Amino acid sequence: MHILSKFAAVTALTVMSTTSFAADDPIAARQNIMKNVGAAMKAAGAMATGKAEYDALAAELAVRTINSSAIGFPMFFPKGSETGGDTEAAPAIWSDMEGFSKSSAQLATDSATATEAAKGGMDTFKGAFFAMAKNCKACHEKFRIKKN
Ligand code: HEC
Repeated sequence: MHILSKFAAVTALTVMSTTSFAADDPIAARQNIMKNVGAAMKAAGAMATGKAEYDALAAELAVRTINSSAIGFPMFFPKGSETGGDTEAAPAIWSDMEGFSKSSAQLATDSATATEAAKGGMDTFKGAFFAMAKNCKACHEKFRIKKN
């Protein structure tokens, strides 16, 4: 399957499930959002590293998805959702909600930059992509406990 259609299929599924779970299950909702971010990252990363042919629209769509996921992400961490399901959320999120929100906002900023950069071609996109990618590890190291 073409990388873009595969990604679009994942996105459509995730949007549907996120919407239906958001109200009563913030843990499932935020995990779906992050799964979506992971899929978008795969598509964008393949192009940024030359493993897939660069397609400006596909690149833009991928990082735009990451952008809309980052905006408002902390809303899916209400009090009472610290544990349960198979959440990997670290207690630090609730003890340092300001830091967690900043980390989310930084991803939103850097993915917005990458969205613009996508129009400028592979070389411009690459730089913005790798700058954006640093946010994943930075937040996960502080705010995510990876199980097994
Ligand atoms: C602001 C913090 C933050 C940023 C930035 C962030 N993540 Fe996450 N991510 C989390 C948290 C917290 C979880 C665990 C959520 C849970 O289990 O409740 C998570 C979980 C995940 C998961 C596992 C989802 C699942 O349950 O299957 C993936 C995949 C993921 N992140 C990918 C990414 C990628 C790729 C990026 C960078 C583009 C990124 N994340 C940026 C906080 C962040």
